[in-house]
Amino acid sequence: MSKQILSVKQIDKRFKGVHALKGIDFDLNEGEVHALVGENGAGKSTLMKILTGIYEKDSGEMHYLGKLYHPHGPKQALQMGIGIIHQELNMMDHLTVAQNIFIGRESMHKSGLFLDEKAQNQRAQALFDRLNMNIDPSELLGNLTVGMQQMVEIAKAVSHDLKVLILDEPTAALTNTEIDELFTIMRNLSKQKVAMIYISHRMDEIHRITNRVTVMRDGEYIGTRDTDKVTKEEIIQMMVGRVIYEDPKQKSNVEDGAQVVLKVSNLHAGKMVKDVSFELRRGEILGFSGLIGAGRTETVRALFGADKIESGTIEINGKPALIKTPRDAVEHGIGYLSEDRKRYGLCTGLSVIDNSIMATYESYQKYSFMQQGKMRKVAQQFSEAMKIKTPSLEQLVVNLSGGNQQKVVIAKWLIKNSDILIFDEPTRGIDVGAKSEIYHLMNELAKEGKSIIMISSEMPEVLRMSDRVIVMCEGRITGELDISEANQEKIMAFATMNN
Ligand SMILES: Nc1ncnc2c1ncn2[C@@H]1O[C@H](COP(=O)(O)OP(=O)(O)OP(=O)(O)O)[C@@H](O)[C@H]1O
Ligand SMILES: [Mg+2]
Repeated sequence: MSKQILSVKQIDKRFKGVHALKGIDFDLNEGEVHALVGENGAGKSTLMKILTGIYEKDSGEMHYLGKLYHPHGPKQALQMGIGIIHQELNMMDHLTVAQNIFIGRESMHKSGLFLDEKAQNQRAQALFDRLNMNIDPSELLGNLTVGMQQMVEIAKAVSHDLKVLILDEPTAALTNTEIDELFTIMRNLSKQKVAMIYISHRMDEIHRITNRVTVMRDGEYIGTRDTDKVTKEEIIQMMVGRVIYEDPKQKSNVEDGAQVVLKVSNLHAGKMVKDVSFELRRGEILGFSGLIGAGRTETVRALFGADKIESGTIEINGKPALIKTPRDAVEHGIGYLSEDRKRYGLCTGLSVIDNSIMATYESYQKYSFMQQGKMRKVAQQFSEAMKIKTPSLEQLVVNLSGGNQQKVVIAKWLIKNSDILIFDEPTRGIDVGAKSEIYHLMNELAKEGKSIIMISSEMPEVLRMSDRVIVMCEGRITGELDISEANQEKIMAFATMNN
């Protein structure tokens, strides 16, 4: 039998208006990877924050290495060997990669008076070499993509000497290749007897990397199983109380001869967008596939006026469109749900209702009074449609679970009712049940005649939603597939076709 190193019993936690954890039991063995799954708002992150001393439990007991365990803060937990990679990136954009990794334990110059940047960068480089990551330690963190930032977080956590590593949705921002790298790192840690708690909404990963799986629902403990004795469908059933099928789309829903609403020709923007041309039709869901760094986000940012276009043309409904700022794009009927909700999508210090109507604020203004009732009604309607889990519409977004924050961003753009919607990783961090709801909403929008560009790193999502798939690699479009001929192998072949 493996040695148990951590156990929690009957943990209870309340926030104002929310009973987040209702008597949770959980235990962890040396060297195992233990999946923790459950719908958005089930209480996974809250439990992990209690384990790492960020939150105080209301009641219950924790044991670690055979002793009663009661951390007084994350620093103490870390010193005792329990570290966490958080769901939300929380590093400093204005510091370098190496500075972020070694914050609080900087390499000092011999005199002890000032920082030895060179030594610190070398330390970071050695760490990256060991982990097989290709990242420049002296780069400013803010210049990296979200996926790369996540890899830095992982490197940072691994650089500590840990007995327990908690990974709260580490792969939400990663694509297949990076996930493979992460899993290699995790297998090595497991050999060194590090125990890991692994939170993910990507159900396919559970069987690839975990030994056991614990399911939570609505703050309650549902059960624990050996991973090899349970199917994906059974896990989903435990999570959401019903079976959900994820079938790929068989054929395009776009009508023959549907009008071209957007035509992009020979677009060049920065290093990551090279000679990009494509068309989007009325009622079409156009999937953009590719690896991290393929230039998909950069392409839609240029299209949305968020980054400067160097050359190329954009036509909307057959007419040339000059888009220099996001405001121009919005005026042309384009909505953009960004991949990085924290940076561009949300004001987390504002309420659910304020965030929901943010993109449409002006339409609620009448003689300089805000039409509160109307605002509330619309926000209420979308919050219900998307099953946003919140005690009230006045709740600050910062207090919602990660997945529910993402739902608020989606609601914001759905309320805006744009003709062309760009969704960049729309279901990142969203549970399987809510995903189905969002897919349903997207299909409804397409049926109404809206056109959607969907960037997604999740292959099942691309194959399930798209009418047509465009594949990018290193800033160029390398392939285009009708959904009837698309499959994972063909997409991967285009995604790695360097030219
Ligand atoms: N600081 C807080 N203040 C108030 N409520 C909170 C706070 N933190 C979490 N909650 C609430 O506690 C519940 C559990 O949230 P938690 O973040 O643990 O969910 P989760 O399982 O991690 O979900 P997700 O998959 O979306 O990340 C939610 O209803 C959430 O809104
Ligand atoms: Mg969470």
